[in-house]
Amino acid sequence: MPSSDVLLMRRPDDWHVHLRDGDMLRSVVGHTARQFARAIVMPNLSPPVTSVALAVAYRMRILAALDPDAGFEPLMTCYLTDGADPDEIERGFAAGVFTACKLYPAHATTNSEHGVTDIRNIHRVLERMQRIGMPLLLHGEVTDHGVDIFDREAVFIERVLLKVLADFPALKIVFEHVTTAEAVAFVEQTGPNVAATITPHHLRINRNAMFEGGIRPHFYCLPVAKREVHRLALRRAATSGSAKFFLGTDSAPHAVGKKEAACGCAGIFNAPFAMESYATTFDEEGALDRLEGFASEHGPNFYGLPLNTGRITLERASNVVPERVGTGSEAVTPFHAGEIMRWRFAEGA
Ligand code: DOR
Ligand code: ZN
Repeated sequence: MPSSDVLLMRRPDDWHVHLRDGDMLRSVVGHTARQFARAIVMPNLSPPVTSVALAVAYRMRILAALDPDAGFEPLMTCYLTDGADPDEIERGFAAGVFTACKLYPAHATTNSEHGVTDIRNIHRVLERMQRIGMPLLLHGEVTDHGVDIFDREAVFIERVLLKVLADFPALKIVFEHVTTAEAVAFVEQTGPNVAATITPHHLRINRNAMFEGGIRPHFYCLPVAKREVHRLALRRAATSGSAKFFLGTDSAPHAVGKKEAACGCAGIFNAPFAMESYATTFDEEGALDRLEGFASEHGPNFYGLPLNTGRITLERASNVVPERVGTGSEAVTPFHAGEIMRWRFAEGA
């Protein structure tokens, strides 16, 4: 095989994933652990992961769902509520249980009803996080129904993020799953304490994908995909080589029946073919040489964690994506379902 058809790189990490719980956790976690060494695990369970004890128990359930030799490290996050306690958060961070805190504006997305109703309610928490160097992970959308759903990320920058940075200029912030040119520009213009993750799907689809020939629930996620001009801005940012942008899949499985419904859930399950999807995008942009930085280096450098020592191989080879992954009530439609991908993840070494 010519060398341009094989990509050998440092093992990547996923800096934003939903692993769920119970049977769904057991069904999906292996897909993430196969490709990634570590992952930042979202805490939006029901009930949410709001304490050190809940995070320890959840981490144990994740590890118990994997082969003992999977070599996967879940990095746990604390779900912020209006009543979040700075002491509990610092205790979890100091003990190595919490890697970061996650801010869901209340009612922004799946299981966010216990989220923060007003940023002022967590000022003491943010103050403490800034002091101890603990990253804040943002679902960056306002929830005001007077704001058009396609504008909620851009308006969040104006109404919330600028204030947070004015009050806490040294706080480490990850603007997660950015979807707009505005968010890209904002991250580029701020200091090195602000970074962003970009999903595989926002690099590949724009909002038209949800309506092509009929309603397409498997392309619905939050933040919702935007216009083409925004997708192009995300592709430029991801492939730019900037250390401020790194991999976060936001893989968010929902059973098929919960997606194909009158009120379908938000979320795209991309874990099974995540690296193939990113590689396809970087290949199209002529930036395969920058995939390793985006997938395996910028994230750990931002978090202050060691780089992985393992390696993975991606090969240029046909790879058919099935219509369903998992069985029974855990069957989920993966991103790229029914497509033939031109890259294949070969087992890591
Ligand atoms: O599409 C999404 N799905 N966005 C989120 O923010 C949450 C996630 C989920 O948990 O299903
Ligand atoms: Zn998410």
